[in-house]
Amino acid sequence: MTSGLPFCELHLHIEGTLEPETIFALAAEQGRTLRDAGPEELAARYDFADLPDFLELYYENMGVLRSERDFEVLAEAYFARAHRAGVAHVELFVDPQAHTERGVAERTVLAGLQRAIEAAGDRHGISAGIIACVLRDRPVDDAERMLDAVLDAAAETGAPLLGIGLDSAELGFPPHRFAGVFDRAAEAGLHRVAHAGEEGPADYVRQALDVLGAERIDHGIRVLDDAELVARLVRERISLTVCPLSNVRLRVVDRIEELPFRALLDAGLLVTVNSDDPAYFGGYLDDNVAAVRGAFGLGEDDLARLARNSVEASFAPEARKRELL
Ligand code: HPA
Ligand code: ZN
Repeated sequence: MTSGLPFCELHLHIEGTLEPETIFALAAEQGRTLRDAGPEELAARYDFADLPDFLELYYENMGVLRSERDFEVLAEAYFARAHRAGVAHVELFVDPQAHTERGVAERTVLAGLQRAIEAAGDRHGISAGIIACVLRDRPVDDAERMLDAVLDAAAETGAPLLGIGLDSAELGFPPHRFAGVFDRAAEAGLHRVAHAGEEGPADYVRQALDVLGAERIDHGIRVLDDAELVARLVRERISLTVCPLSNVRLRVVDRIEELPFRALLDAGLLVTVNSDDPAYFGGYLDDNVAAVRGAFGLGEDDLARLARNSVEASFAPEARKRELL
């Protein structure tokens, strides 16, 4: 458990919850042989030089996700683990383009997630929604097509599509390219978030706000390089969804103590703690909270603030927020 307080998890890639054992179980079901002999050998390769190095294996591994049932089982396992971590509400990322390029339709993905979300409410009392992410290192017209397809798939399946996001390789892929897609998403009533300031500069955070209309910044740990930007984020109550174990495993910092976690809190920013890709980075939400607690000597008041921040920064309906606060 995190602290006994209900937390919202706002930065979680559902494909990043695909555990090595599940990869092998699904491959066996499909009669496929994988490059590694078993889950331990695969996990031994989870030693990443940077974000692109991680993404290569992340996209390769998700090749075992094919049917609606595969996505349902994946998300069910995550919700069970998240419940044990003290998570009460989740806004999960999914990468539809990484599945359609393998012939798996948006409808299949959203229908599977929808079933797991429904079960998570019944079994664990967890509320959840979906944020479909644009792969920023792919062409813009592919993102335009993805947006139309997920809007249709959500309408068909009843999946709770909350928003649009921006992820994948950051450096060299500035947010402004996707202004048109994000405008259309907003017109369709979707929330907007974007990964920015993970490996990329503070200027990418500014672009995400000005050009994409982002309501939250995923990672954003580089903002301290820009005092004016920090003041704006504080003023506008725009949250940073920080993922401490991810930042260490993707070598954004060498050691967790090097994260500017205290400085972000002290600046008055609406910081939240999240797990990003827990099957790859060594821990779920409770593990991430424990890691920052140890590294930065956080007390009960700090943990309560992080839990409250996560509720405030969520897109949960006001009535649900009041329940969680
Ligand atoms: N950053 C960008 N894209 C991603 C990540 C991440 O940490 N995880 C999955 N896609
Ligand atoms: Zn992420």
